[in-house]
Amino acid sequence: MKNMLISPSLLAADFARLGEELKAVEAAGADMLHLDVMDGVFVPNISFGMPVIASLRKASSLFFDVHIMIVDPLRYIEELAKAGASGVTFHLEAAEDVGSVIRAIKARGMKAGLTLKPGTPVERLLPWLPELDLALVMSVEPGFGGQSFMPKMMDKVSAIRREADRLGLGDLLIQVDGGVARDTAAACGAAGANCLVAGSAIFGKADYAAETEAIRAAANGSLG
Ligand code: DX5
Ligand code: ZN
Repeated sequence: MKNMLISPSLLAADFARLGEELKAVEAAGADMLHLDVMDGVFVPNISFGMPVIASLRKASSLFFDVHIMIVDPLRYIEELAKAGASGVTFHLEAAEDVGSVIRAIKARGMKAGLTLKPGTPVERLLPWLPELDLALVMSVEPGFGGQSFMPKMMDKVSAIRREADRLGLGDLLIQVDGGVARDTAAACGAAGANCLVAGSAIFGKADYAAETEAIRAAANGSLG
């Protein structure tokens, strides 16, 4: 059976205890850690940046899956690499030249991810698939945790899955972010996702391991 990768979003963690929260999701079976960087311009919220990522890096060797919701992403690739990002996913709406951002991420030895807001057509992302390690479908408006899952976005996941299969991109990660929980995970898996971000669903529960496993099991049940 295929195994859904789970990337807990630290945005929903207790920021007074970030190191402990990181250790806890790691022990709970997280495959990666999702770090949401927001600039208050591309999205109407501000989260955290390089110093936080760099401090967490010292405490863990987990894959750091950094999702940047910032304008002019090219400007910060170098600093994200220095801070310890393993992969960087940026918004195509925010980049003047998508190709140069992808190349800059890879040139620093990181995995390159591309994403889009719910209102942006998936056709704008599809041409980049051969150059990407990860394609992220946002299933909420970026900016805040705890919002409701938008099932309609699974059409984008299916379109990416079809195109990836057609091109033979077997290693591509197709990730869903926003409102993912045990009751929405199956739809993600059925549409062809192989990696799920979950923030409030995991950090909002007392038992992170049980929730991580419940999300993975629900998603795996729908995988081929
Ligand atoms: C939203 C962020 C998400 C967020 C998900 O802009 O990209 O990663 O933390 O939170 P939940 O899982 O609570 O929807
Ligand atoms: Zn995110």
